[in-house]
Amino acid sequence: MNKFLSVGITGTGSCLPEKKLTNFDLEKMVDTTDEWIRTRTGISERRIADNKTATSDLATEAAKIAIDDAGLLLEDIDLIIVATATPDMAFPSTACIVQKNIGAKNAVAFDIEAACSGFLYALAIGEQFIKTGVYRNVLIIGAETLSKITNWKDRRTCVLFGDGAGAAVLQQVEGGLGILSSSLGSDGFRGDYLTQPAGGSRMPASIKTILNDLHYIHMDGREVFKFAVRAMSKSALEIIKDVGYNIEDVDYMIPHQANIRIIEAVAKKINLTMDKVYVNLNDYGNMSVASIPVALDEAVKKGSVKAGDIIILVAFGGGLTWGSSVIKWCK
Ligand code: UT7
Repeated sequence: MNKFLSVGITGTGSCLPEKKLTNFDLEKMVDTTDEWIRTRTGISERRIADNKTATSDLATEAAKIAIDDAGLLLEDIDLIIVATATPDMAFPSTACIVQKNIGAKNAVAFDIEAACSGFLYALAIGEQFIKTGVYRNVLIIGAETLSKITNWKDRRTCVLFGDGAGAAVLQQVEGGLGILSSSLGSDGFRGDYLTQPAGGSRMPASIKTILNDLHYIHMDGREVFKFAVRAMSKSALEIIKDVGYNIEDVDYMIPHQANIRIIEAVAKKINLTMDKVYVNLNDYGNMSVASIPVALDEAVKKGSVKAGDIIILVAFGGGLTWGSSVIKWCK
Protein backbone atom coordinates (compact mmCIF):
# COMPACT_ATOMS: atom_id res chain seq x y z
CA MET A 1 0.00 0.00 0.00
CA ASN A 2 1.20 3.53 -0.84
CA LYS A 3 2.21 5.15 2.46
CA PHE A 4 1.80 8.64 0.99
CA LEU A 5 -1.40 10.68 0.86
CA SER A 6 -3.11 11.35 -2.51
CA VAL A 7 -2.97 14.98 -3.65
CA GLY A 8 -5.29 16.76 -6.06
CA ILE A 9 -6.23 20.18 -7.37
CA THR A 10 -9.35 21.34 -5.52
CA GLY A 11 -9.64 24.90 -6.80
CA THR A 12 -8.47 26.97 -9.77
CA GLY A 13 -8.47 30.64 -10.72
CA SER A 14 -6.97 32.97 -13.28
CA CYS A 15 -6.52 36.65 -14.03
CA LEU A 16 -5.79 38.35 -17.35
CA PRO A 17 -5.08 42.03 -17.97
CA GLU A 18 -7.88 43.82 -19.81
CA LYS A 19 -5.79 45.42 -22.54
CA LYS A 20 -5.70 43.42 -25.79
CA LEU A 21 -2.87 43.78 -28.28
CA THR A 22 -3.84 42.35 -31.68
CA ASN A 23 -1.66 41.25 -34.55
CA PHE A 24 -2.94 44.31 -36.43
CA ASP A 25 -1.64 46.53 -33.61
CA LEU A 26 1.74 44.79 -33.95
CA GLU A 27 1.77 45.44 -37.71
CA LYS A 28 2.03 49.13 -36.79
CA MET A 29 4.92 48.54 -34.39
CA VAL A 30 7.29 46.15 -36.21
CA ASP A 31 7.81 44.71 -39.70
CA THR A 32 5.29 41.85 -39.42
CA THR A 33 1.84 40.81 -40.62
CA ASP A 34 -1.23 39.27 -39.04
CA GLU A 35 -0.91 36.48 -41.60
CA TRP A 36 2.71 35.65 -40.63
CA ILE A 37 1.93 35.60 -36.92
CA ARG A 38 -1.22 33.48 -37.26
CA THR A 39 0.26 30.92 -39.64
CA ARG A 40 3.64 30.60 -37.84
CA THR A 41 2.33 30.69 -34.26
CA GLY A 42 -1.49 30.39 -34.09
CA ILE A 43 -1.72 33.65 -32.13
CA SER A 44 -4.19 36.45 -32.99
CA GLU A 45 -4.05 38.59 -29.88
CA ARG A 46 -2.56 38.72 -26.39
CA ARG A 47 -3.24 40.57 -23.11
CA ILE A 48 -0.77 43.18 -21.88
CA ALA A 49 -0.47 44.50 -18.32
CA ASP A 50 -0.56 48.30 -17.97
CA ASN A 51 2.26 50.31 -16.40
CA LYS A 52 0.72 50.11 -12.93
CA THR A 53 0.27 46.31 -12.95
CA ALA A 54 3.01 43.99 -11.73
CA THR A 55 3.16 40.19 -11.72
CA SER A 56 2.00 40.02 -8.08
CA ASP A 57 -1.19 41.96 -8.91
CA LEU A 58 -2.29 39.34 -11.46
CA ALA A 59 -1.13 36.53 -9.14
CA THR A 60 -3.15 37.96 -6.24
CA GLU A 61 -6.42 38.04 -8.19
CA ALA A 62 -5.91 34.51 -9.55
CA ALA A 63 -5.08 33.29 -6.02
CA LYS A 64 -8.23 34.73 -4.44
CA ILE A 65 -10.43 33.03 -7.05
CA ALA A 66 -8.67 29.66 -6.63
CA ILE A 67 -8.93 29.77 -2.81
CA ASP A 68 -12.62 30.62 -3.03
CA ASP A 69 -13.15 27.85 -5.60
CA ALA A 70 -11.57 25.37 -3.17
CA GLY A 71 -13.92 26.56 -0.42
CA LEU A 72 -11.06 27.61 1.85
CA LEU A 73 -10.45 30.65 3.99
CA LEU A 74 -7.32 32.73 3.43
CA GLU A 75 -5.93 31.73 6.82
CA ASP A 76 -6.20 28.04 5.84
CA ILE A 77 -3.33 28.40 3.34
CA ASP A 78 -0.13 26.79 4.67
CA LEU A 79 2.18 27.34 1.71
CA ILE A 80 2.28 29.71 -1.28
CA ILE A 81 4.57 28.95 -4.21
CA VAL A 82 4.79 31.47 -7.04
CA ALA A 83 6.50 30.35 -10.23
CA THR A 84 7.61 33.31 -12.31
CA ALA A 85 10.47 34.62 -14.43
CA THR A 86 9.18 38.18 -14.03
CA PRO A 87 9.01 38.76 -10.27
CA ASP A 88 8.02 42.24 -9.07
CA MET A 89 11.63 42.60 -7.85
CA ALA A 90 14.49 40.33 -6.74
CA PHE A 91 13.27 40.46 -3.14
CA PRO A 92 10.93 40.24 -1.38
CA SER A 93 9.67 37.25 -3.35
CA THR A 94 6.48 37.64 -5.35
CA ALA A 95 5.01 34.87 -3.16
CA CYS A 96 5.58 37.01 -0.04
CA ILE A 97 3.93 39.97 -1.78
CA VAL A 98 0.92 37.78 -2.65
CA GLN A 99 0.80 36.55 0.96
CA LYS A 100 0.54 40.15 2.15
CA ASN A 101 -2.02 41.10 -0.53
CA ILE A 102 -4.40 38.25 0.28
CA GLY A 103 -3.75 38.23 4.04
CA ALA A 104 -2.69 34.57 4.23
CA LYS A 105 -1.04 35.12 7.57
CA ASN A 106 -0.34 31.45 8.35
CA ALA A 107 1.44 30.66 5.08
CA VAL A 108 5.08 30.05 4.24
CA ALA A 109 5.81 31.73 0.90
CA PHE A 110 8.56 31.42 -1.69
CA ASP A 111 9.18 31.75 -5.43
CA ILE A 112 10.59 29.23 -7.84
CA GLU A 113 11.98 29.84 -11.34
CA ALA A 114 11.79 27.27 -14.11
CA ALA A 115 10.59 29.64 -16.87
CA CYS A 116 7.55 28.30 -18.76
CA SER A 117 7.75 24.90 -16.98
CA GLY A 118 7.45 26.58 -13.57
CA PHE A 119 3.82 25.71 -12.87
CA LEU A 120 4.57 22.00 -13.18
CA TYR A 121 7.61 22.43 -10.93
CA ALA A 122 5.40 24.20 -8.35
CA LEU A 123 2.81 21.44 -8.66
CA ALA A 124 5.41 18.74 -7.99
CA ILE A 125 6.90 20.66 -5.02
CA GLY A 126 3.49 21.40 -3.48
CA GLU A 127 2.48 17.77 -3.93
CA GLN A 128 5.50 16.58 -1.90
CA PHE A 129 4.58 18.76 1.09
CA ILE A 130 1.02 17.43 1.21
CA LYS A 131 1.68 13.79 0.50
CA THR A 132 4.25 13.63 3.30
CA GLY A 133 1.80 15.29 5.70
CA VAL A 134 3.82 18.50 6.23
CA TYR A 135 1.14 20.90 4.91
CA ARG A 136 -2.57 20.54 4.17
CA ASN A 137 -3.49 23.46 1.89
CA VAL A 138 -1.00 24.62 -0.72
CA LEU A 139 -1.54 27.49 -3.17
CA ILE A 140 0.51 27.37 -6.37
CA ILE A 141 0.56 30.21 -8.86
CA GLY A 142 2.06 30.67 -12.32
CA ALA A 143 2.22 34.41 -13.03
CA GLU A 144 4.05 36.35 -15.68
CA THR A 145 4.32 39.82 -17.21
CA LEU A 146 6.75 39.03 -20.01
CA SER A 147 5.63 42.26 -21.73
CA LYS A 148 7.89 44.06 -19.22
CA ILE A 149 11.01 42.29 -20.54
CA THR A 150 10.01 42.07 -24.20
CA ASN A 151 11.90 44.06 -26.80
CA TRP A 152 9.02 45.69 -28.66
CA LYS A 153 11.35 46.40 -31.59
CA ASP A 154 12.29 42.72 -32.09
CA ARG A 155 9.72 41.05 -34.35
CA ARG A 156 11.20 37.59 -33.66
CA THR A 157 10.02 37.71 -30.04
CA CYS A 158 7.51 40.51 -29.47
CA VAL A 159 4.71 38.83 -31.43
CA LEU A 160 4.78 35.74 -29.21
CA PHE A 161 4.16 36.71 -25.62
CA GLY A 162 1.26 37.79 -23.40
CA ASP A 163 0.68 38.45 -19.69
CA GLY A 164 -1.49 36.56 -17.21
CA ALA A 165 -1.70 34.48 -14.05
CA GLY A 166 -3.26 31.18 -13.06
CA ALA A 167 -3.53 29.58 -9.64
CA ALA A 168 -4.46 26.23 -8.13
CA VAL A 169 -5.10 24.94 -4.62
CA LEU A 170 -3.67 21.53 -3.73
CA GLN A 171 -5.14 19.36 -0.97
CA GLN A 172 -5.37 15.74 0.06
CA VAL A 173 -7.97 13.86 -1.99
CA GLU A 174 -9.46 10.35 -2.00
CA GLY A 175 -6.95 7.59 -2.84
CA GLY A 176 -6.62 6.91 -6.60
CA LEU A 177 -7.67 10.46 -7.53
CA GLY A 178 -5.60 13.59 -8.10
CA ILE A 179 -1.97 13.65 -9.24
CA LEU A 180 -1.06 10.14 -10.38
CA SER A 181 2.49 11.03 -11.38
CA SER A 182 4.71 14.05 -12.00
CA SER A 183 7.97 14.19 -13.87
CA LEU A 184 10.45 17.05 -14.25
CA GLY A 185 13.56 17.52 -16.37
CA SER A 186 16.34 20.06 -16.86
CA ASP A 187 19.14 20.56 -19.37
CA GLY A 188 21.27 23.49 -18.22
CA PHE A 189 23.79 22.71 -20.95
CA ARG A 190 21.50 24.30 -23.53
CA GLY A 191 20.35 27.22 -21.38
CA ASP A 192 21.72 29.77 -23.86
CA TYR A 193 18.79 29.19 -26.22
CA LEU A 194 16.50 31.31 -24.06
CA THR A 195 17.84 34.02 -21.74
CA GLN A 196 17.39 37.44 -20.19
CA PRO A 197 21.12 38.23 -19.98
CA ALA A 198 21.27 41.33 -17.79
CA GLY A 199 19.84 42.44 -14.47
CA GLY A 200 21.34 39.68 -12.34
CA SER A 201 24.74 39.24 -10.66
CA ARG A 202 26.48 38.24 -13.92
CA MET A 203 25.57 41.50 -15.64
CA PRO A 204 24.11 44.02 -13.21
CA ALA A 205 22.01 46.80 -14.70
CA SER A 206 24.13 49.56 -16.22
CA ILE A 207 23.81 52.16 -18.95
CA LYS A 208 25.73 49.77 -21.21
CA THR A 209 23.39 46.81 -20.59
CA ILE A 210 20.40 49.01 -21.28
CA LEU A 211 21.87 50.45 -24.49
CA ASN A 212 22.64 46.90 -25.67
CA ASP A 213 19.07 45.64 -25.03
CA LEU A 214 20.38 43.03 -22.59
CA HIS A 215 17.39 43.24 -20.22
CA TYR A 216 15.09 41.80 -22.85
CA ILE A 217 14.28 38.20 -23.81
CA HIS A 218 16.89 36.69 -26.15
CA MET A 219 15.89 33.52 -27.95
CA ASP A 220 17.02 31.09 -30.62
CA GLY A 221 13.48 30.34 -31.80
CA ARG A 222 14.31 27.45 -34.12
CA GLU A 223 16.36 25.56 -31.51
CA VAL A 224 13.71 26.14 -28.83
CA PHE A 225 11.05 24.88 -31.25
CA LYS A 226 12.92 21.61 -31.92
CA PHE A 227 13.66 21.10 -28.23
CA ALA A 228 10.01 21.78 -27.30
CA VAL A 229 8.60 19.12 -29.60
CA ARG A 230 11.17 16.51 -28.52
CA ALA A 231 10.98 17.22 -24.77
CA MET A 232 7.20 17.48 -24.48
CA SER A 233 6.39 14.39 -26.54
CA LYS A 234 9.02 12.25 -24.74
CA SER A 235 7.90 13.48 -21.32
CA ALA A 236 4.21 12.89 -22.11
CA LEU A 237 4.77 9.37 -23.44
CA GLU A 238 6.99 8.40 -20.50
CA ILE A 239 4.60 9.62 -17.83
CA ILE A 240 1.59 7.92 -19.40
CA LYS A 241 3.55 4.67 -19.43
CA ASP A 242 4.69 5.29 -15.85
CA VAL A 243 1.10 5.29 -14.56
CA GLY A 244 0.28 2.17 -16.57
CA TYR A 245 -1.97 3.90 -19.12
CA ASN A 246 -2.05 4.06 -22.91
CA ILE A 247 -2.56 7.24 -24.90
CA GLU A 248 -6.21 6.14 -25.52
CA ASP A 249 -6.84 6.51 -21.77
CA VAL A 250 -6.05 10.25 -21.86
CA ASP A 251 -9.19 12.43 -21.99
CA TYR A 252 -7.41 15.76 -22.31
CA MET A 253 -3.94 17.21 -22.76
CA ILE A 254 -3.23 20.76 -21.61
CA PRO A 255 0.15 21.69 -23.07
CA HIS A 256 2.20 24.85 -22.61
CA GLN A 257 0.70 27.32 -25.10
CA ALA A 258 3.80 28.50 -26.99
CA ASN A 259 3.04 27.85 -30.65
CA ILE A 260 0.21 25.91 -32.35
CA ARG A 261 2.77 24.19 -34.59
CA ILE A 262 4.62 22.89 -31.51
CA ILE A 263 1.36 21.67 -29.95
CA GLU A 264 0.21 19.95 -33.17
CA ALA A 265 3.61 18.30 -33.64
CA VAL A 266 3.54 16.94 -30.07
CA ALA A 267 -0.04 15.66 -30.45
CA LYS A 268 0.95 13.92 -33.69
CA LYS A 269 4.05 12.35 -32.16
CA ILE A 270 2.15 10.92 -29.18
CA ASN A 271 -0.85 9.92 -31.33
CA LEU A 272 -3.41 12.14 -29.64
CA THR A 273 -6.11 13.76 -31.79
CA MET A 274 -6.38 17.56 -31.55
CA ASP A 275 -9.96 17.37 -30.21
CA LYS A 276 -8.35 16.10 -26.99
CA VAL A 277 -5.92 19.02 -26.76
CA TYR A 278 -6.81 22.28 -25.06
CA VAL A 279 -5.68 25.33 -27.04
CA ASN A 280 -6.25 28.98 -26.11
CA LEU A 281 -3.09 30.65 -27.44
CA ASN A 282 -5.07 32.26 -30.25
CA ASP A 283 -6.48 34.67 -27.63
CA TYR A 284 -3.60 35.00 -25.16
CA GLY A 285 -0.30 34.21 -26.89
CA ASN A 286 2.45 32.53 -24.89
CA MET A 287 1.94 33.51 -21.24
CA SER A 288 4.98 31.49 -20.16
CA VAL A 289 4.40 29.91 -16.74
CA ALA A 290 0.81 31.19 -16.64
CA SER A 291 -0.27 29.39 -19.79
CA ILE A 292 -1.04 25.96 -18.26
CA PRO A 293 -2.89 27.15 -15.12
CA VAL A 294 -4.97 29.65 -17.11
CA ALA A 295 -5.85 26.97 -19.68
CA LEU A 296 -6.65 24.48 -16.90
CA ASP A 297 -8.92 26.99 -15.16
CA GLU A 298 -10.74 27.70 -18.44
CA ALA A 299 -11.05 24.02 -19.35
CA VAL A 300 -12.49 23.12 -15.94
CA LYS A 301 -14.90 26.06 -15.79
CA LYS A 302 -16.14 25.43 -19.36
CA GLY A 303 -16.81 21.81 -18.41
CA SER A 304 -14.25 20.45 -20.89
CA VAL A 305 -12.46 18.72 -17.98
CA LYS A 306 -14.80 16.76 -15.74
CA ALA A 307 -14.54 14.64 -12.58
CA GLY A 308 -12.89 11.31 -13.36
CA ASP A 309 -11.14 12.55 -16.52
CA ILE A 310 -7.50 11.66 -17.06
CA ILE A 311 -5.64 14.81 -17.99
CA ILE A 312 -2.03 15.36 -18.84
CA LEU A 313 -0.25 18.69 -18.33
CA VAL A 314 2.99 19.10 -20.25
CA ALA A 315 5.41 22.01 -20.51
CA PHE A 316 8.84 23.13 -21.69
CA GLY A 317 10.76 26.32 -21.08
CA GLY A 318 13.97 28.21 -20.51
CA GLY A 319 16.65 26.57 -18.43
CA LEU A 320 16.14 24.45 -20.42
CA THR A 321 13.40 22.74 -18.45
CA TRP A 322 10.40 20.50 -19.02
CA GLY A 323 7.78 18.65 -17.02
CA SER A 324 4.57 16.70 -17.14
CA SER A 325 1.89 15.54 -14.79
CA VAL A 326 -0.96 13.02 -15.08
CA ILE A 327 -4.03 13.87 -13.04
CA LYS A 328 -7.28 12.02 -12.45
CA TRP A 329 -9.53 15.05 -12.07
CA CYS A 330 -11.36 14.95 -8.76
CA LYS A 331 -13.80 17.88 -8.65
O1 UT7 B 1 7.88 29.43 -24.02
C1 UT7 B 1 9.05 29.23 -24.74
C2 UT7 B 1 9.34 30.43 -25.60
N1 UT7 B 1 9.76 30.26 -26.94
C3 UT7 B 1 9.15 29.55 -27.92
O2 UT7 B 1 8.21 28.85 -27.73
C4 UT7 B 1 9.69 29.74 -29.31
C5 UT7 B 1 9.69 28.50 -30.16
N2 UT7 B 1 9.93 28.85 -31.54
C6 UT7 B 1 8.94 29.30 -32.35
O3 UT7 B 1 7.79 29.35 -31.96
C7 UT7 B 1 9.30 29.66 -33.76
O4 UT7 B 1 10.65 29.32 -34.02
C8 UT7 B 1 9.09 31.19 -34.07
C9 UT7 B 1 7.59 31.50 -34.09
C10 UT7 B 1 9.78 32.04 -33.03
C11 UT7 B 1 9.63 31.52 -35.43
O5 UT7 B 1 9.03 30.71 -36.43
P1 UT7 B 1 9.91 29.95 -37.50
O6 UT7 B 1 8.98 29.26 -38.42
O7 UT7 B 1 10.91 29.12 -36.75
O8 UT7 B 1 10.57 31.15 -38.27
P2 UT7 B 1 12.13 31.46 -38.47
O9 UT7 B 1 12.75 31.92 -37.21
O10 UT7 B 1 12.74 30.30 -39.20
O11 UT7 B 1 12.04 32.69 -39.44
C12 UT7 B 1 11.50 32.58 -40.78
C13 UT7 B 1 11.50 33.96 -41.41
C14 UT7 B 1 12.82 34.70 -41.23
O12 UT7 B 1 13.07 35.42 -42.41
P3 UT7 B 1 14.14 34.88 -43.47
O13 UT7 B 1 15.44 34.80 -42.72
O14 UT7 B 1 13.65 33.53 -43.88
O15 UT7 B 1 14.10 35.91 -44.54
C15 UT7 B 1 12.54 35.68 -40.12
O16 UT7 B 1 13.32 36.84 -40.19
O17 UT7 B 1 10.50 34.75 -40.78
C16 UT7 B 1 11.08 36.00 -40.38
N3 UT7 B 1 10.37 36.48 -39.20
C17 UT7 B 1 9.25 37.23 -39.28
N4 UT7 B 1 8.57 37.72 -40.32
C18 UT7 B 1 7.46 38.44 -40.06
C19 UT7 B 1 10.66 36.23 -37.90
N5 UT7 B 1 9.73 36.82 -37.11
C20 UT7 B 1 8.85 37.45 -37.94
C21 UT7 B 1 7.69 38.21 -37.74
N6 UT7 B 1 7.03 38.69 -38.82
N7 UT7 B 1 7.21 38.46 -36.50
